[in-house]
Amino acid sequence: MSRLAGMTALITGAASGIGSACAVRFAQEGARVVGFDANGAGDERWTEAARLSGGAPLLVGDVRREVEVEAAVAQARDHLGSLDLLVNSAGVAGGGPVHMLATEEWDRVIDINLKGTFLFCKHTLPVMMEQRRGSIVNLASIEGLEAFEGGSAYNASKGAVVLLTKNLAMDYARLGIRVNAICPGFIQTPMMSGVLDLGGFEELKARVADLHQMGRFGRPEEIAAAALFLASEDASFVTGHSLVVDGGYTAGHRIGLGKMMGLE
Ligand code: NAI
Repeated sequence: MSRLAGMTALITGAASGIGSACAVRFAQEGARVVGFDANGAGDERWTEAARLSGGAPLLVGDVRREVEVEAAVAQARDHLGSLDLLVNSAGVAGGGPVHMLATEEWDRVIDINLKGTFLFCKHTLPVMMEQRRGSIVNLASIEGLEAFEGGSAYNASKGAVVLLTKNLAMDYARLGIRVNAICPGFIQTPMMSGVLDLGGFEELKARVADLHQMGRFGRPEEIAAAALFLASEDASFVTGHSLVVDGGYTAGHRIGLGKMMGLE
């Protein structure tokens, strides 16, 4: 398949989870990719993406550090010759009830999830403006649309990514640059395991899976498929949108009428 034939992509958080799934899907669709991550050891998906992309580099840095972001964007552009697509997937879980939340933890979550997205957009946009084309996909979350118990900093960071996406879409649309977000439900990645696979959380994990109307967690590939759509020309008239990909998590609430209605 070649929905991204001839295109170039910079993907943050590319070492793991949704980011590496995007990298491999984009490479399968003909894009040449460069990854960026705090962790220089990419997972097996990244390894495959790098192979398909002719030895793609995984640049190591911290999305919170502007000098590292600026250098990475310059390196990616040198390597690829252009920057058509940017996926902001680097992110962390975190937070807690506000009265108990260390200010350092608030700063960590907001800085990685929100400021990191801002910094990559800030330094990639001038390249896209010069090209007069580009497509940016930001990883927000259903937790950017509705709250989750104890979600504080994470909820705030992802809600802000949703609105930053709209702002970017508005400001850059007439320069040929589209900006969209994805709001995934709970997706089986190391980030999710880091929270829901903690000892004693088995029942909680089952309850969270059940909150998705489809009764299961999502797979990173299901988010990469949505990112591919938004990044590609198939979405040529889509900008400022936050695409919910959540197995029905935000569709509504079941109250146990399924059996009575013959649906169980
Ligand atoms: P993950 O933990 O598998 O991957 C995140 C990657 O970001 C890791 O490789 C990590 O090293 C990198 N990273 C973290 N902090 C960084 C920093 N300061 N600088 C550079 N790289 C850094 O997580 P996952 O699940 O793939 O998450 C990707 C994105 O999707 C995140 O923004 C997350 O908030 C979002 N998301 C994930 C959901 C899930 O259930 N897994 C649900 C909704 C949104």
